[in-house]
Amino acid sequence: MTAGIDLGRPQAQAIRSDEDVVRVRQLVRAVAVAVKLSLVDQTKLVTAASELARNTLVYGGGGDVEVTIVDNGVRRGVRIVFADSGPGIADLDLALTDGYTTGGGLGLGLSGARRLVDEFDIQTAVGEGTRITVTKWSR
Ligand SMILES: Nc1ncnc2c1ncn2[C@@H]1O[C@H](COP(=O)(O)OP(=O)(O)OP(=O)(O)O)[C@@H](O)[C@H]1O
Ligand SMILES: [Mg+2]
Repeated sequence: MTAGIDLGRPQAQAIRSDEDVVRVRQLVRAVAVAVKLSLVDQTKLVTAASELARNTLVYGGGGDVEVTIVDNGVRRGVRIVFADSGPGIADLDLALTDGYTTGGGLGLGLSGARRLVDEFDIQTAVGEGTRITVTKWSR
């Protein structure tokens, strides 16, 4: 599982299956514990990561995640990058609207994830893919 991971380096995980989404959750939890996020913040970050990993799998056709410990001189945090080479998102404002879905979901994954983290950035281009970066800081 996540025992023995070297937290000094970015941790990479492919997202190609439901099992990989579970592995992303476990990895993010382990890194969040290591930087001493509160239990509530751990859960917020794991929830956001789970939604974004699922989108990477379902809409992006699979991809990769990288989890890194960051330090701004005052606090430590966890930064997670989700990258896929799928269809991209044509209308980002729409995709971030509560309830908007093209896949019959609840349409709350992206918008919810954004509210659960401290920093949220999306780079996407139609036909090229999507790259979402989230960060949560210890407090
Ligand atoms: N990585 C991605 N690549 C392409 N499109 C995406 C990606 N992630 C999200 N989208 C688009 O944004 C929409 C909104 O995503 P969001 O996660 O909010 O809702 P959902 O996945 O449809 O439903 P839910 O997450 O609530 O089950 C998706 O329906 C999809 O059209
Ligand atoms: Mg979703």
